[in-house]
Amino acid sequence: MVEVVVRPAIIADAKPIMTLVNELALQQVMLPRSPASVIENIRDFQIATVDGALVGVGALAVIWSDIAEIRSLAVHPSQQKSGVGRALVDALIVDAQRLGIPRLFAFTYVPGFFQKVGFDVCQHEDLPHKVFNDCMHCPKFMACDEIAMTRVLDPKASSVKVFGKPQRAIPLPQRTPTFAGPVPTPKPSKRGKS
Ligand SMILES: CC(C)(COP(=O)(O)OP(=O)(O)OC[C@H]1O[C@@H](n2cnc3c(N)ncnc32)[C@H](O)[C@@H]1OP(=O)(O)O)[C@@H](O)C(=O)NCCC(=O)NCCS
Repeated sequence: MVEVVVRPAIIADAKPIMTLVNELALQQVMLPRSPASVIENIRDFQIATVDGALVGVGALAVIWSDIAEIRSLAVHPSQQKSGVGRALVDALIVDAQRLGIPRLFAFTYVPGFFQKVGFDVCQHEDLPHKVFNDCMHCPKFMACDEIAMTRVLDPKASSVKVFGKPQRAIPLPQRTPTFAGPVPTPKPSKRGKS
């Protein structure tokens, strides 16, 4: 087993992240990432290295206060099946727990891997509408063939938020409405009066 070191990404990782993700995307196994989407979201990414060389990447995208997505998970083909993907998911889970996010999901073509790292298959409809915001920019919008998978990190969240049960509404803050009153009518100007 190789020794995998996982660390948060820095901006110098943006180019190698794009290279790895977009090479795998050409094989239709995952979605591509634009330079802007990697650079703007560099804080989402974790980097896996072996002997100092980048061998894998993965991102945690916070979607809402109670859900985050594991996306752009990619391991260099020469290093697959040697624990890199699991090490990345473990690091992304630690980050989600640090942030207090109770539930993760992923859209994937490799459900077997995600099952191994604790995810369950769910229906797309079981996920809150908010998670589909980014799908509108996807070439496969309306014809998604990726499998939805979810993992609950905080068991207290599971009874209300998984498998077909409605999302609990987040209550709005109790605020007394403030009313500014009618707009004051300007006084007639004295200038110009004889
Ligand atoms: C999917 C991917 C991230 C997995 O990474 P990896 O480093 O090969 O996975 P690991 O070695 O950490 O595997 C962890 C476990 O999952 C299993 N596994 C890995 N890939 C699998 C697959 N495609 N199908 C089923 N099980 C798989 C491993 O055998 C291992 O099981 P074990 O714990 O019983 O030994 C990697 O293969 C990859 O980059 N694939 C191409 C891009 C892709 O599909 N990304 C997912 C986008 S959502």
